[in-house]
Amino acid sequence: MKNITILISGSGTNLQRIIDCIDSGEIRNARIIQVIADRECYGLQRAEKHRIPTRLIKRGKNFSEELDKAIPQNTDLIVLAGFLSILKPEFCEKWKGKIINIHPALLPKFGGKGMWGHHVHQAVIESGEKESGATVHFVTSGIDEGEIILQRKFEIDENDTPETLAEKVHQVEYDIFPKAIDLVLNK
Ligand code: GRF
Repeated sequence: MKNITILISGSGTNLQRIIDCIDSGEIRNARIIQVIADRECYGLQRAEKHRIPTRLIKRGKNFSEELDKAIPQNTDLIVLAGFLSILKPEFCEKWKGKIINIHPALLPKFGGKGMWGHHVHQAVIESGEKESGATVHFVTSGIDEGEIILQRKFEIDENDTPETLAEKVHQVEYDIFPKAIDLVLNK
């Protein structure tokens, strides 16, 4: 059995999807042993409903160190599921190959500092892109730069807004995130 720790900042619909895919067996041989949030958010309640241990570690001095202490040492994979804090290089180095993230665009485009949430979808629309999608990748100290595990695209409709794009990207995420997690854990 592989142990997953999930880090979140938001509503946690991807977290919910991961919980459901573990239950259904789409993600094999895994359990979530800890959910950690960097702020109060609905994702924490989702975890609690499923009796998954939660921690809240607010941003501040020594955030990466505090976070590291809160991550169970028997963690096989850290999953960033809508986690908005930047992790220190030392942290990324320590968990190299064992930490993955989902990004709401087609990396390497539209990644890096400031490219999160609606900013991403806004930038995609403004630059007149023909397609968008989602990317699951390994986390390294370079923001959104690690090796890509899975990526899926779709065509942008001329009527799409940042809001409709966000919804479409989420649907893609629900599909590729569990697949990527299963791939990394059970390769
Ligand atoms: C997702 O779009 C993810 O790509 C981004 O944050 C969002 C999280 O959504 N990093 P949710 O909290 O899983 O609903």
